[in-house]
Amino acid sequence: MNVYDSERMLQQMHVLSVFATDVIDDADVIIINTCAIREKAVQKVYSFLGRLTAIKRKRQDVRVIVAGCVAQQMGSLLIQRFPFIDIVLGTHAVHRLPEYLKRLDRDGGPVIDTEMTADIPEFPADMPVLPQNTVSRHVTIMRGCDNFCTYCVVPYVRGREVSRRPEDIIAEIKMLVSAGVKEVTLLGQNVNSYGIKEGLVSFPQLLEQVNDLGGLERIRFVTSHPKDLSEDLMNSFARLDKLCNHIHLPVQSGSNWILAKMNRKYTREIYMDTVIKLRAISPGIAVTTDIIAGFPGETDDDFAQTIDLMTSVEFDHIFAFVYSDRPDTPASRIPEKVADPVKGERLRRALEIQEGITRQAYSRLIGRVFPVMVEGYSKNQLKSGGVVQWPQIELSGRTSENRIVNFYAPTPDPEADMDFSNGRIQNVRIDRACENSLWGTAVKQDDLCITPKKGEAYVA
Ligand code: 5AD
Ligand code: SF4
Repeated sequence: MNVYDSERMLQQMHVLSVFATDVIDDADVIIINTCAIREKAVQKVYSFLGRLTAIKRKRQDVRVIVAGCVAQQMGSLLIQRFPFIDIVLGTHAVHRLPEYLKRLDRDGGPVIDTEMTADIPEFPADMPVLPQNTVSRHVTIMRGCDNFCTYCVVPYVRGREVSRRPEDIIAEIKMLVSAGVKEVTLLGQNVNSYGIKEGLVSFPQLLEQVNDLGGLERIRFVTSHPKDLSEDLMNSFARLDKLCNHIHLPVQSGSNWILAKMNRKYTREIYMDTVIKLRAISPGIAVTTDIIAGFPGETDDDFAQTIDLMTSVEFDHIFAFVYSDRPDTPASRIPEKVADPVKGERLRRALEIQEGITRQAYSRLIGRVFPVMVEGYSKNQLKSGGVVQWPQIELSGRTSENRIVNFYAPTPDPEADMDFSNGRIQNVRIDRACENSLWGTAVKQDDLCITPKKGEAYVA
């Protein structure tokens, strides 16, 4: 969501003829888009602001803007601590950035806006599409969250759940597609409840509308709450050809006791059942998750149940975090905190277990062919200074399951349908598996007797 907000801010700056730079000393405006989900993210903001003190002392005309969840949460307290900040831009004020910059020039600062509004503001339909990353983009479909998981700060910093109108979402995606975008990721804290409050179309219906857009190749979405993943949404994976074969389904814990304390409203049994259903509907679907280690009151036995769930489900990937207290959340008031070293050890164990699961899963992919959307040169290729000689070129892309594949591509040959421009989908045979990435070789469409369908892979 922050990536999307950052893009929105950049777009607005483009309109003002202010462009992005990689060199901080060249910047006339410095925008820090912040995250408050965990303590560590907030610490990063403070240490970065500390660094800015010297820059601002040298060049007083530099505008410093703090946006995002820390801005929302701290408001004027941020200015007390760092008086050089010019604008505190809360999560509901992203669209006001140009107006506030003008106000700053006219009246001086600081400007603080942490007001929460009931509607999502729409940006003008003709906003410039940013030149970077034209293959894959995020599109926010809703804002805020009403779930109030007891550890989570999101409902406090992003406010109540509101859905955008489908026609606005479709218009935005059409604009992106006309600029060459091939893949969109629809964003919401809990996409399952899209449109329900407002009586709009349901999320599966929205997906269907997006699926019908010509020129778009792939659709992804994050995040689904396991408590209300509808049958209809599950069936979308089989029904919609552009919907990628991947779901991010945060489980957080494998212990029913801890899940109840977290206010997650599902049990490990319901969660595991959901995964079984999804895998039956969409064979080979990649399932990824989030895990929190060391929620207050979590015992060794509770965490053993998380590990047990992980080994039963065999996730494709996990994002694991140590629990951290967030201001105002109910969990922060639970006195039985887990000691830092214990949390750290649990996190390390979860990551180690997952490493083994991923290694095994990846080794099973060797020899299979997957359609990969080309995203550009591989990291190795970029590091090596870019030897751009076919056929040594190493490219990188993603399978429908969101696995990154680096691959060698033969000399492009439009006749043989071998085109490796960004956004093209080409078949790649997996030759080698590393810890977190796959390596392969592009193979011609003609070499295969069957056209791969979503979710299908086969031995070449
Ligand atoms: N401590 C640790 N992890 C957290 N998350 C959310 N709040 C906290 C917290 N207080 C994790 C959850 C969520 C992900 C985005 O961040 O796993 O799914
Ligand atoms: Fe936070 Fe829970 Fe909402 Fe996700 S569903 S944003 S974890 S409150």
